[in-house]
Amino acid sequence: MTEGRAGSRFSARWRILGWLMLSTALVLTAMVISVSSALQARAGHDANDDVAQEVAEFRQFAAEGVNPETARPFTAAEPMLDVFLRRQQPGQGEVLLGIVDGGRAVMSVRGADTPARAEHDVALDTDLLGSDDTSGVAQTPAGELRWAKAAIATDAGESGHLFVGNYTAPAYAEVASTTRLMAAASIGAVALTAILGWLIAGQILRPIRVMRLTAADISREDLTRRIPVQGNDDLADLAVEFNSMLDRLESAFATEQRFVDDAGHELRTPITIIRGHLELLGDDPLERRATLNLVTQELDRMSRIVTDLLALAKAERDDFIQIGGRVDVAELTLDIDAKVQQLAPRTWVLTHVADGPARIDAQRVTQAMLQLAQNATQHTDHGAEIRLSSYFAQDETGAPVVVFAVSDTGPGVPAAEASTIFERFARGTARRTVGEHSGAGLGLAIVRAIADGHNGSAFVDSTPGQGATFGIALPTREERI
Ligand SMILES: Nc1ncnc2c1ncn2[C@@H]1O[C@H](COP(=O)(O)OP(=O)(O)O)[C@@H](O)[C@H]1O
Ligand SMILES: [Mg+2]
Repeated sequence: MTEGRAGSRFSARWRILGWLMLSTALVLTAMVISVSSALQARAGHDANDDVAQEVAEFRQFAAEGVNPETARPFTAAEPMLDVFLRRQQPGQGEVLLGIVDGGRAVMSVRGADTPARAEHDVALDTDLLGSDDTSGVAQTPAGELRWAKAAIATDAGESGHLFVGNYTAPAYAEVASTTRLMAAASIGAVALTAILGWLIAGQILRPIRVMRLTAADISREDLTRRIPVQGNDDLADLAVEFNSMLDRLESAFATEQRFVDDAGHELRTPITIIRGHLELLGDDPLERRATLNLVTQELDRMSRIVTDLLALAKAERDDFIQIGGRVDVAELTLDIDAKVQQLAPRTWVLTHVADGPARIDAQRVTQAMLQLAQNATQHTDHGAEIRLSSYFAQDETGAPVVVFAVSDTGPGVPAAEASTIFERFARGTARRTVGEHSGAGLGLAIVRAIADGHNGSAFVDSTPGQGATFGIALPTREERI
């Protein structure tokens, strides 16, 4: 069943889950990357700032030139560096060196996580100490070092340097471990999303799954199953719609089944009659002729039933009613009047002729009117008056309609039968004057199908004992505004 269908092979649940996980993963990945690179940039800046700040502090200290411990001025570089450095608390990765006599480190302080070989690195790197630059970035065996130095000269002619360095590796390592932590948390979040998404999608899609299973279980023979409706959301609406579709299908199949049963029954009767007569057929020519006559009549009836059944079957199709263009109602009425004259010797009277156009199927209207006229002849005696008419009117909603009607002076229709006789195979109790038992009860059903096909209606008006008026009212749409 699945081959040849475009679209995803994956179930809705998987697709919802997939998109959910993909978007969560993308958002979290973007977050981890951007936070991590921001932290990294910040670590670099902080290292520079720290170095610059220490140097500035020292410059100020040196400019004041007073030993805060003795409140006397410094006279030599070494104690100045010594006092300054003792009072410092270097930060992470930081190293401060006091250097006198062009390279001898007399004093050093290190911060937390500063590589143990820091002084060694700096001391080895004569480029750093000897260069004219006052700050820079150096690559050492312990990693990147951001540094700056400040020179001092005392009155005694002694020279010295304060060297401030900051190894960025510890800070970067911290960024890396934060990043790892964030990545791990993100993976956890995606996993949690997956579990929750799977459960929630399953919960939301449950009615659809139930619907699918129910639909798979429903067969033509058993249309009684319905989907349980839960909640009040759009899926509940879908279930309600689905159930009402099943209601319609069930009733359509039931109607069709009844129709087939009734049709079979109606056709079997004439067959039984014909067979019975043929089996008992004797040699008497008179009897033979009578039997032949009867058989022919029954065959005619069968043929009529089959024709009517075909008409009703066709009524289900879209092309049953063919509206080509405007039909001149007056001309159509006169045509019908001419045709009904042939049905039976009655006093046919045309009481009213609608004058104007209408968008209707002239052939089907003629068929309906002939059907009604035939019924009228079957319920009236020789020479009785049957009136035909067509007129424009308004239906109960006020919409313009064109009405075609046939009135007779027969027994009429009892009120209780008025609504049922339009059903298929429905026959009333009215006494017939012609062709007793001849109808299968399909005539009025065809009339109603023709009216329905025009979105109109078929009706009967009758005072029992004083005749009946049968007719169809068809909307004329834009023609009569
Ligand atoms: N002009 C009429 N006067 C009285 N009763 C009628 C008239 N036309 C139809 N009926 C009633 O409606 C029933 C159904 O008519 P129809 O559908 O044409 O079937 P059929 O003619 O085969 O019986 C008839 O059996 C009859 O009882
Ligand atoms: Mg009939």
